[in-house]
Amino acid sequence: MIKVEKLNKKYKMGGETVEALKNVSLDIEQGEMVAIIGPSGSGKSTMMHILGGLDRPDSGEVFVDEESLSKLSQRKLADYRNKKIGFIFQTFNLQPDLTSIENVELPLIIAGKNSKERKKLAKEALTKVGLGDRLKHKPNELSGGQRQRVSIARALVNSPKIIFADEPTGNLDSKTGANVLELLKKLNKDEGVTIIIVTHDNDIAEQCDRIVRMKDGEIQK
Ligand SMILES: Nc1ncnc2c1ncn2[C@@H]1O[C@H](COP(=O)(O)OP(=O)(O)O)[C@@H](O)[C@H]1O
Ligand SMILES: [Mg+2]
Repeated sequence: MIKVEKLNKKYKMGGETVEALKNVSLDIEQGEMVAIIGPSGSGKSTMMHILGGLDRPDSGEVFVDEESLSKLSQRKLADYRNKKIGFIFQTFNLQPDLTSIENVELPLIIAGKNSKERKKLAKEALTKVGLGDRLKHKPNELSGGQRQRVSIARALVNSPKIIFADEPTGNLDSKTGANVLELLKKLNKDEGVTIIIVTHDNDIAEQCDRIVRMKDGEIQK
């Protein structure tokens, strides 16, 4: 479903060049739940951003369902980000002035859904993550685990086939993190969503179908 071919990405900072990704290749099957682990600075987020269409490589290709991301028009790429994938960040990335339901409605506005349908779908997604009773709360009125569940609801509200989660439990205590993982596992099992999760937590990695290890911008064989 996802085919990554020889990705390279360099960052120039001042006089220094960092090789964030060096010839990274990887295949991910539909319905897999894959953990990506590795030390800080090993290129995990860089790879996730490229897979999620948030950044572009210097060279190499990402194919999703046999379509090359680099060949998509801006409009098709925006569509890919909005409908085909969901992205979950360590820091949640919620809009602080919006309520839970309004945050979850955002991808539906982009998708062109009308207000009535948005409310219905956003409420369903929040109910699915156990927040049916927190629709009108703003992020600062929620716990960390609840905020992450709002961001999961936002990621799944357009029924994506793939969810990318970059250290989704990194800002949560271990019990809350375990709950978030359970939720992702359930989406994977019950709905067949392909999940790629970056984590520092070995317990989490071991619950996935497969572990991919990165070091210094490379995948360890
Ligand atoms: N926007 C950027 N500008 C400059 N250097 C960056 C940028 N993003 C990442 N890097 C560098 O690229 C390397 C890989 O970073 P990253 O992909 O964030 O690693 P990880 O997620 O595994 O911690 C690091 O050395 C980091 O400092
Ligand atoms: Mg990172």
